[in-house]
Amino acid sequence: MLVNASEMLTKAKAGHYAVGHFNTNNLEWTKAILQTAEEMKSPVIIGVSEGAAKYMTGFKVVADMVKAMDKALGITVPVALHLDHGSYEGAKACIDAGFTSIMFDGSHYGIEENVEKTKELVALAHEKGLSIEAEVGSIGGEEDGVIGAGEVADPEECKMIADLGVDFLAAGIGNIHGKYPANWKGLDFVALDKIQAKTGTLPLVLHGGTGIPADMIAKAIDLGVSKINVNTECQLSFAEATRKYIEAGKDLEGKGFDPRKLLAPGVDAIKATVREKIELFGSAGKA
Ligand code: 13P
Repeated sequence: MLVNASEMLTKAKAGHYAVGHFNTNNLEWTKAILQTAEEMKSPVIIGVSEGAAKYMTGFKVVADMVKAMDKALGITVPVALHLDHGSYEGAKACIDAGFTSIMFDGSHYGIEENVEKTKELVALAHEKGLSIEAEVGSIGGEEDGVIGAGEVADPEECKMIADLGVDFLAAGIGNIHGKYPANWKGLDFVALDKIQAKTGTLPLVLHGGTGIPADMIAKAIDLGVSKINVNTECQLSFAEATRKYIEAGKDLEGKGFDPRKLLAPGVDAIKATVREKIELFGSAGKA
Protein backbone atom coordinates (compact mmCIF):
# COMPACT_ATOMS: atom_id res chain seq x y z
CA MET A 1 0.00 0.00 0.00
CA LEU A 2 1.29 3.44 -0.85
CA VAL A 3 1.74 5.96 1.98
CA ASN A 4 2.31 9.67 2.15
CA ALA A 5 5.90 10.79 2.71
CA SER A 6 5.40 12.59 5.99
CA GLU A 7 6.30 9.83 8.47
CA MET A 8 9.25 8.44 6.47
CA LEU A 9 10.79 11.92 6.25
CA THR A 10 10.18 12.84 9.87
CA LYS A 11 11.97 9.60 10.81
CA ALA A 12 14.78 10.35 8.36
CA LYS A 13 15.33 13.83 9.80
CA ALA A 14 15.41 12.45 13.36
CA GLY A 15 17.66 9.56 12.31
CA HIS A 16 20.11 11.69 10.26
CA TYR A 17 19.68 10.00 6.91
CA ALA A 18 17.78 10.88 3.72
CA VAL A 19 15.13 9.08 1.71
CA GLY A 20 15.74 8.89 -2.05
CA HIS A 21 13.20 10.41 -4.43
CA PHE A 22 13.71 8.72 -7.80
CA ASN A 23 11.85 10.02 -10.84
CA THR A 24 10.04 7.47 -12.94
CA ASN A 25 9.48 7.57 -16.69
CA ASN A 26 7.70 4.33 -17.45
CA LEU A 27 6.94 0.79 -16.29
CA GLU A 28 10.59 -0.35 -16.36
CA TRP A 29 11.73 2.58 -14.22
CA THR A 30 8.95 2.05 -11.69
CA LYS A 31 9.71 -1.67 -11.37
CA ALA A 32 13.44 -1.03 -10.97
CA ILE A 33 12.87 1.55 -8.20
CA LEU A 34 10.33 -0.58 -6.30
CA GLN A 35 12.38 -3.78 -6.47
CA THR A 36 15.59 -2.09 -5.37
CA ALA A 37 13.94 -0.33 -2.42
CA GLU A 38 12.43 -3.66 -1.34
CA GLU A 39 15.77 -5.49 -1.67
CA MET A 40 17.43 -2.84 0.47
CA LYS A 41 14.56 -2.55 2.95
CA SER A 42 14.49 1.18 2.35
CA PRO A 43 11.58 3.60 2.26
CA VAL A 44 11.37 5.26 -1.15
CA ILE A 45 9.64 8.09 -2.98
CA ILE A 46 8.68 7.66 -6.62
CA GLY A 47 8.67 11.11 -8.20
CA VAL A 48 6.77 12.00 -11.37
CA SER A 49 7.19 15.26 -13.25
CA GLU A 50 4.23 16.65 -15.14
CA GLY A 51 6.12 15.99 -18.39
CA ALA A 52 6.70 12.32 -17.52
CA ALA A 53 3.05 11.93 -16.46
CA LYS A 54 1.94 13.38 -19.79
CA TYR A 55 4.24 10.93 -21.59
CA MET A 56 2.62 8.08 -19.64
CA THR A 57 -0.80 9.43 -20.75
CA GLY A 58 -1.90 11.01 -17.48
CA PHE A 59 -1.70 11.21 -13.67
CA LYS A 60 -4.39 8.57 -13.19
CA VAL A 61 -2.51 6.06 -15.36
CA VAL A 62 0.64 6.66 -13.31
CA ALA A 63 -1.17 6.35 -9.97
CA ASP A 64 -2.98 3.18 -11.01
CA MET A 65 0.22 1.62 -12.38
CA VAL A 66 2.31 2.39 -9.31
CA LYS A 67 -0.38 1.15 -6.92
CA ALA A 68 -1.02 -2.04 -8.88
CA MET A 69 2.69 -2.78 -9.25
CA ASP A 70 3.40 -2.14 -5.58
CA LYS A 71 0.73 -4.72 -4.77
CA ALA A 72 1.66 -7.22 -7.49
CA LEU A 73 5.32 -7.23 -6.41
CA GLY A 74 4.35 -7.64 -2.74
CA ILE A 75 6.34 -4.56 -1.75
CA THR A 76 6.52 -4.21 2.03
CA VAL A 77 8.62 -1.03 2.37
CA PRO A 78 6.91 2.40 2.59
CA VAL A 79 6.46 3.86 -0.92
CA ALA A 80 5.15 7.37 -1.62
CA LEU A 81 3.99 8.48 -5.06
CA HIS A 82 4.91 12.14 -5.34
CA LEU A 83 4.30 14.83 -7.96
CA ASP A 84 7.59 16.57 -8.78
CA HIS A 85 7.59 20.36 -9.43
CA GLY A 86 3.83 20.49 -9.71
CA SER A 87 1.93 23.45 -11.05
CA TYR A 88 -1.12 24.66 -9.10
CA GLU A 89 -3.47 22.80 -11.51
CA GLY A 90 -1.22 19.72 -11.66
CA ALA A 91 -1.11 19.49 -7.86
CA LYS A 92 -4.89 19.56 -7.66
CA ALA A 93 -5.19 16.95 -10.41
CA CYS A 94 -2.79 14.60 -8.58
CA ILE A 95 -4.78 14.88 -5.36
CA ASP A 96 -7.78 13.60 -7.34
CA ALA A 97 -5.80 11.00 -9.30
CA GLY A 98 -4.71 9.09 -6.19
CA PHE A 99 -1.13 10.30 -5.59
CA THR A 100 -0.04 10.11 -1.96
CA SER A 101 2.16 13.20 -2.01
CA ILE A 102 2.51 16.39 -4.07
CA MET A 103 5.02 19.12 -4.62
CA PHE A 104 3.71 22.56 -5.44
CA ASP A 105 6.50 24.55 -7.03
CA GLY A 106 5.45 28.16 -6.60
CA SER A 107 9.05 29.40 -6.70
CA HIS A 108 8.52 31.34 -9.93
CA TYR A 109 5.78 33.44 -8.29
CA GLY A 110 6.45 36.32 -5.96
CA ILE A 111 6.57 35.21 -2.31
CA GLU A 112 3.02 36.51 -1.57
CA GLU A 113 1.51 34.45 -4.39
CA ASN A 114 3.67 31.44 -3.51
CA VAL A 115 2.38 31.70 0.10
CA GLU A 116 -1.22 32.11 -0.98
CA LYS A 117 -1.27 29.16 -3.40
CA THR A 118 0.82 26.90 -1.14
CA LYS A 119 -1.55 27.61 1.76
CA GLU A 120 -4.55 26.59 -0.30
CA LEU A 121 -2.89 23.38 -1.51
CA VAL A 122 -1.70 22.45 2.00
CA ALA A 123 -5.36 22.44 3.12
CA LEU A 124 -6.50 20.41 0.09
CA ALA A 125 -3.66 17.88 0.37
CA HIS A 126 -4.03 17.39 4.12
CA GLU A 127 -7.78 16.99 3.85
CA LYS A 128 -7.14 13.93 1.66
CA GLY A 129 -4.17 12.64 3.70
CA LEU A 130 -1.43 13.58 1.21
CA SER A 131 1.89 15.12 2.17
CA ILE A 132 3.01 18.32 0.46
CA GLU A 133 6.37 19.83 -0.49
CA ALA A 134 6.82 23.49 -1.41
CA GLU A 135 9.73 25.42 -2.89
CA VAL A 136 11.56 28.63 -2.06
CA GLY A 137 14.43 30.05 -4.10
CA SER A 138 14.88 27.90 -7.19
CA ILE A 139 16.74 24.91 -8.60
CA GLY A 140 19.03 25.92 -11.45
CA GLY A 141 18.86 24.34 -14.89
CA GLU A 142 15.88 22.64 -16.49
CA GLU A 143 13.78 19.59 -15.78
CA ASP A 144 10.94 18.64 -18.12
CA GLY A 145 10.30 22.26 -19.04
CA VAL A 146 10.61 23.61 -15.47
CA ILE A 147 13.42 26.16 -15.65
CA GLY A 148 15.08 27.84 -12.68
CA ALA A 149 17.76 30.50 -12.35
CA GLY A 150 19.13 28.86 -9.20
CA GLU A 151 18.41 31.67 -6.72
CA VAL A 152 19.50 30.78 -3.21
CA ALA A 153 16.48 30.69 -0.89
CA ASP A 154 15.91 33.44 1.63
CA PRO A 155 15.67 31.89 5.14
CA GLU A 156 12.87 34.29 6.17
CA GLU A 157 10.80 33.25 3.15
CA CYS A 158 11.51 29.60 3.99
CA LYS A 159 10.06 30.21 7.44
CA MET A 160 6.96 31.86 5.94
CA ILE A 161 6.31 28.79 3.78
CA ALA A 162 7.24 26.33 6.56
CA ASP A 163 4.72 28.02 8.86
CA LEU A 164 1.92 27.15 6.42
CA GLY A 165 2.19 23.52 7.52
CA VAL A 166 4.01 22.03 4.54
CA ASP A 167 5.47 18.59 5.29
CA PHE A 168 8.87 19.22 3.69
CA LEU A 169 10.56 22.09 1.94
CA ALA A 170 12.79 22.39 -1.14
CA ALA A 171 15.10 25.36 -0.75
CA GLY A 172 17.46 26.44 -3.50
CA ILE A 173 21.04 26.25 -2.20
CA GLY A 174 23.00 26.38 -5.45
CA ASN A 175 21.75 22.97 -6.62
CA ILE A 176 21.02 22.35 -10.29
CA HIS A 177 18.92 19.86 -12.26
CA GLY A 178 20.94 17.74 -14.68
CA LYS A 179 24.73 17.46 -14.82
CA TYR A 180 26.75 19.97 -12.78
CA PRO A 181 29.00 22.22 -14.87
CA ALA A 182 32.77 21.99 -14.32
CA ASN A 183 32.77 25.49 -12.75
CA TRP A 184 29.96 24.71 -10.25
CA LYS A 185 30.63 26.40 -6.91
CA GLY A 186 29.08 23.60 -4.85
CA LEU A 187 26.18 23.68 -2.39
CA ASP A 188 25.73 26.79 -0.26
CA PHE A 189 26.01 25.30 3.24
CA VAL A 190 25.95 28.71 4.92
CA ALA A 191 22.48 29.27 3.45
CA LEU A 192 21.38 25.73 4.33
CA ASP A 193 22.48 26.22 7.93
CA LYS A 194 20.47 29.47 8.18
CA ILE A 195 17.43 27.83 6.57
CA GLN A 196 17.53 24.94 9.03
CA ALA A 197 17.86 27.39 11.94
CA LYS A 198 14.62 29.04 10.78
CA THR A 199 12.67 25.89 9.91
CA GLY A 200 13.67 23.64 12.84
CA THR A 201 12.58 20.02 12.55
CA LEU A 202 10.98 20.42 9.11
CA PRO A 203 12.58 17.93 6.67
CA LEU A 204 14.44 19.76 3.90
CA VAL A 205 14.67 18.55 0.30
CA LEU A 206 17.74 18.56 -1.92
CA HIS A 207 16.86 18.58 -5.62
CA GLY A 208 19.43 17.97 -8.35
CA GLY A 209 20.89 14.89 -6.64
CA THR A 210 22.71 13.76 -9.80
CA GLY A 211 26.46 14.17 -9.47
CA ILE A 212 26.63 15.73 -5.99
CA PRO A 213 29.79 14.35 -4.36
CA ALA A 214 29.44 12.05 -1.33
CA ASP A 215 31.00 14.52 1.12
CA MET A 216 28.48 17.24 0.16
CA ILE A 217 25.61 14.76 0.47
CA ALA A 218 26.79 13.85 3.99
CA LYS A 219 27.08 17.50 5.00
CA ALA A 220 23.66 18.34 3.56
CA ILE A 221 22.09 15.49 5.56
CA ASP A 222 23.92 16.75 8.63
CA LEU A 223 22.31 20.17 8.08
CA GLY A 224 18.76 18.87 7.85
CA VAL A 225 18.27 17.44 4.35
CA SER A 226 16.00 14.36 4.57
CA LYS A 227 14.89 13.85 0.95
CA ILE A 228 17.21 13.80 -2.04
CA ASN A 229 15.89 13.87 -5.62
CA VAL A 230 17.62 11.91 -8.37
CA ASN A 231 16.50 11.83 -11.98
CA THR A 232 19.22 12.43 -14.59
CA GLU A 233 21.64 9.87 -13.15
CA CYS A 234 19.19 6.99 -13.71
CA GLN A 235 18.58 8.22 -17.25
CA LEU A 236 22.32 8.34 -17.96
CA SER A 237 22.85 4.83 -16.52
CA PHE A 238 19.96 3.45 -18.57
CA ALA A 239 21.17 5.10 -21.79
CA GLU A 240 24.77 3.94 -21.34
CA ALA A 241 23.81 0.30 -20.74
CA THR A 242 21.36 0.31 -23.66
CA ARG A 243 23.97 1.84 -25.95
CA LYS A 244 26.47 -0.89 -25.00
CA TYR A 245 23.92 -3.62 -25.73
CA ILE A 246 23.16 -2.25 -29.18
CA GLU A 247 26.73 -1.33 -30.04
CA ALA A 248 27.74 -4.90 -29.20
CA GLY A 249 25.13 -6.04 -31.75
CA LYS A 250 23.21 -8.02 -29.10
CA ASP A 251 19.86 -6.93 -30.56
CA LEU A 252 20.83 -8.75 -33.76
CA GLU A 253 21.62 -12.04 -32.03
CA GLY A 254 18.73 -14.51 -31.78
CA LYS A 255 15.76 -12.78 -30.17
CA GLY A 256 17.88 -9.98 -28.75
CA PHE A 257 15.47 -7.47 -30.25
CA ASP A 258 12.72 -8.58 -27.83
CA PRO A 259 12.06 -5.46 -25.72
CA ARG A 260 12.29 -7.51 -22.54
CA LYS A 261 15.86 -8.43 -23.53
CA LEU A 262 16.79 -5.11 -25.11
CA LEU A 263 15.70 -3.08 -22.07
CA ALA A 264 17.09 -5.50 -19.46
CA PRO A 265 20.65 -4.07 -19.24
CA GLY A 266 19.23 -0.56 -18.87
CA VAL A 267 16.89 -1.68 -16.10
CA ASP A 268 19.79 -3.38 -14.29
CA ALA A 269 21.75 -0.13 -14.61
CA ILE A 270 18.88 1.90 -13.07
CA LYS A 271 18.78 -0.60 -10.21
CA ALA A 272 22.52 -0.23 -9.64
CA THR A 273 22.22 3.57 -9.52
CA VAL A 274 19.25 3.45 -7.13
CA ARG A 275 21.14 0.97 -4.92
CA GLU A 276 24.22 3.19 -4.84
CA LYS A 277 22.14 6.25 -3.88
CA ILE A 278 20.17 4.43 -1.17
CA GLU A 279 23.49 3.37 0.37
CA LEU A 280 24.89 6.89 0.10
CA PHE A 281 21.78 8.47 1.63
CA GLY A 282 21.81 5.98 4.54
CA SER A 283 18.21 4.76 4.22
CA ALA A 284 18.99 1.04 3.70
CA GLY A 285 17.38 -1.06 6.42
CA LYS A 286 15.24 1.87 7.65
CA ALA A 287 11.90 0.59 6.32
P1 13P B 1 18.63 15.53 -11.24
O1 13P B 1 18.01 15.25 -12.56
O2 13P B 1 19.73 16.53 -11.34
O3 13P B 1 19.03 14.29 -10.54
O4 13P B 1 17.52 16.25 -10.36
C1 13P B 1 16.36 15.56 -10.01
C2 13P B 1 15.38 16.43 -9.30
O5 13P B 1 15.74 17.33 -8.58
C3 13P B 1 13.96 16.14 -9.48
O6 13P B 1 13.15 17.14 -8.98
